[in-house]
Amino acid sequence: MRAVDWVDGRFRFIDQTLLPQQEVWVDTDDLTVVGEAIRTLRVRGAPAIGVAAAFGLLLALHPRTFSDVPDLRGRLRRASAYLAQTRPTAVNLFYALDRMRGVLDRHAGQSEAQLYAALEREACAIQREDIEACRRIGELGAELIVPGSSLLTHCNAGALATAGDGTALSIVTTAARQGKIVRVYVDETRPLLQGARLTAWELEQADIPVVLITDSTAGTVLREGRVQAVIVGADRVAANGDAANKVGTYPLAVLAQRHGVSFYVAVPTSTLDPDTPSGDGIPIEERDPAEITHFAGVVVAPAGVGVYAPAFDVTPNELITAIVTERGVLRPPYVQTIADVLKAR
Ligand code: MRU
Repeated sequence: MRAVDWVDGRFRFIDQTLLPQQEVWVDTDDLTVVGEAIRTLRVRGAPAIGVAAAFGLLLALHPRTFSDVPDLRGRLRRASAYLAQTRPTAVNLFYALDRMRGVLDRHAGQSEAQLYAALEREACAIQREDIEACRRIGELGAELIVPGSSLLTHCNAGALATAGDGTALSIVTTAARQGKIVRVYVDETRPLLQGARLTAWELEQADIPVVLITDSTAGTVLREGRVQAVIVGADRVAANGDAANKVGTYPLAVLAQRHGVSFYVAVPTSTLDPDTPSGDGIPIEERDPAEITHFAGVVVAPAGVGVYAPAFDVTPNELITAIVTERGVLRPPYVQTIADVLKAR
């Protein structure tokens, strides 16, 4: 499955808000459809958001009626500003927008057609690199999994969240192919249920035994010794290794430490953010209170109740056993190992 793709000059994605009941694919050449899809989580997961943004910028140039190079550059600038305000936490969005801007800088003096071709090559390169990163993360991460393990994951860091086979779930599926996995406990992931709706669906499709739990059951699962490792993705990893991921990840890391269980974060290097020194500087998206006060359209809280709804939390680096990237498995001190891996990027 390719959750996000570029087919004949159009952006194609699976609408993740309709899963698992319906598999609806959307095909568009409209930038605002891409922007809205990111904002409303029809396209979600940090790497998938980045790839969507790169192709979204190309769509800003459709139909290819730009009068001249300044017109093309102006359209791209406006599209980039528009996409940049869709969701704040996943750094892959800004990574992709920066790379596309870099193309314009490197190709100054070229014609509109040459610029368009270079931009399309770059967007496809971002997609291709993510596909390859997912594959490599799977291989490297699977080496960390002890045969006979059961795992626990949170949210969805699978194929749906990337251009390829996922990050955390690429490790799971690779280790499962190697016969190492007994079962995977999946947090439902309140309030939008990415675990129940998306991760459980992906694992079922891959024929990997899944046990769905409420988020608050994770403590029991760890205390009872049911899992040998916790594996999650991330939306942004700061320069010191602090990792922002779906809210509920941090308590899992605390529990894992309490019970002596390894806690792995799997990310492509495009999710590492050298410009943010620590997790304190990571912008955390706040969601609409209605996502908590309502469940499936039904009101489940008193009218007017106060709500705090951060979409992500930050796991301090000292709780992370290792960060699995496509360029190697990083160990503490992350300030050093992240700087080293980024030099190579
Ligand atoms: O709000 P979402 O569903 O976009 O949050 C996604 C996550 O938290 C994922 O774990 C993260 O983006 C990693 S995806 C490989």
